[in-house]
Amino acid sequence: MGMTEKEVGMTEKIEIATLPSVTRNDSIKNDIRGRIAMRPHFLHATRYSILDTIQRGKKVLKGKKILLGVTGSIAAYKAAEIVSLLKKKGAEVFVIMTESATKFIQPLTFSTLSENSTLDNLFSTNDKIVVKHISLAQWADLILIAPATANIVGKIAHGIADDMLTTTVMASKAKVIFAPAMNKNMISNPLYQQNVEKLSALGYEFIDSEYGRLACGETGKGRLANIEDIVDTVEYALTFKNDFQGKTVLVTASCTREPIDKVRFISNYSSGKMGFALAKIARVRGARVILITGPTSLPVPTGITTISIESAEEMKKEVFKYFSEADIIISAAAVADFRPKEVFAGKIKKEKSKNPLIELERTPDILYELGKKKGDKILVGFAAETENLAANALKKLKEKKLDLIVANDISAKEAGFGSDKNRARLINSKGTAQELSLMPKIDMAEKILDEIIKIK
Ligand code: CTP
Repeated sequence: MGMTEKEVGMTEKIEIATLPSVTRNDSIKNDIRGRIAMRPHFLHATRYSILDTIQRGKKVLKGKKILLGVTGSIAAYKAAEIVSLLKKKGAEVFVIMTESATKFIQPLTFSTLSENSTLDNLFSTNDKIVVKHISLAQWADLILIAPATANIVGKIAHGIADDMLTTTVMASKAKVIFAPAMNKNMISNPLYQQNVEKLSALGYEFIDSEYGRLACGETGKGRLANIEDIVDTVEYALTFKNDFQGKTVLVTASCTREPIDKVRFISNYSSGKMGFALAKIARVRGARVILITGPTSLPVPTGITTISIESAEEMKKEVFKYFSEADIIISAAAVADFRPKEVFAGKIKKEKSKNPLIELERTPDILYELGKKKGDKILVGFAAETENLAANALKKLKEKKLDLIVANDISAKEAGFGSDKNRARLINSKGTAQELSLMPKIDMAEKILDEIIKIK
């Protein structure tokens, strides 16, 4: 709000940052909560849940070119540790400081640690340095801005390029990650929030700030994220492709519950693990993701608009509400096919009804109805089968006008409902099949998305 970076840096001594985080109890069902979940695309929660399952220890950073932007914050000194850790892990590092950052820490510190000259002024008298930002913009595999002030976020969100760092970011196609650090009132300011939303929608990433002791002596949320976490996030971002950038992916997950009376329902064993894995990996690969899920014990994933539903009818309503926004729809939910024709108002008492008969009726086939309206959207379904896997899956693929079907033998040991692993056969609209052997669902999500992205 008209503050200079210097002012931003100074106010950072006061308590910093809080953003509404979405918890299981918050979960969802209305637009306001949906919007909170969409807000900033913070990497942390997604990262932790996925990092556990991806193979670590790969030398991801070896030889990678990281451009570190340091802006005017009291936390600027911590950027020295970031350089040091990136170098230790084999990365090549170039540092660009804003003018305000130089008030907090000397460029010489970064030059020494990075073994490269540190740039701090676009209008340097050195001709070679003046053009350097363009070549650096192309050189970088990834741009990390840590610490990032409200000022730098605002400038980049508005396309302002008036110094070495902002011009370099503007001229680069590399992924940009912000690690913000600022006063809590600045973070909750709607102007800052709008800037984050705008940048997130364009694929810029944000690393959530931390809770802890602040420079002013108070304790609160908002410090620059932990250095190891920042470097981990960089590794993580470099591990994944960004091939779903610009796409909106709608995923349905878990089971549905069809009420019999106030306390009983018909459902199935689906846990939601496969649908959640697809949603998370699509998000990590750059998609905007809308997850419509039935009851599950899984935590609400960060950076994903998550909508909780109970019945097939509710799922259908939400799916069609978001239909027009989606480019790709993945129907991973095990939707109950039948529901009681009448729902008893209270609790059915056993004395009154010794052998109750429950008359069932069909629920809407959501995917079939999507198939009728699909247009140029990509439609992916699952087939849960206990016999004639290929024939039944192919029939569903055709009837529901799918582009791809994931056929599961749900009677197989170690795989299917509730398990962390799955084995499947992918069949595309040409009838070409691909066997996916037993693997963690998170890996299978990668393979399924690899196939989806190939569909034209
Ligand atoms: N599906 C759906 N709505 C339903 C039933 C299924 O959208 N009422 C979707 C599922 O999400 C899945 C696909 O359709 O992607 C196939 O589901 P599946 O349970 O395997 O098959 P059904 O079509 O229900 O047929 P059946 O139960 O007879 O095998």
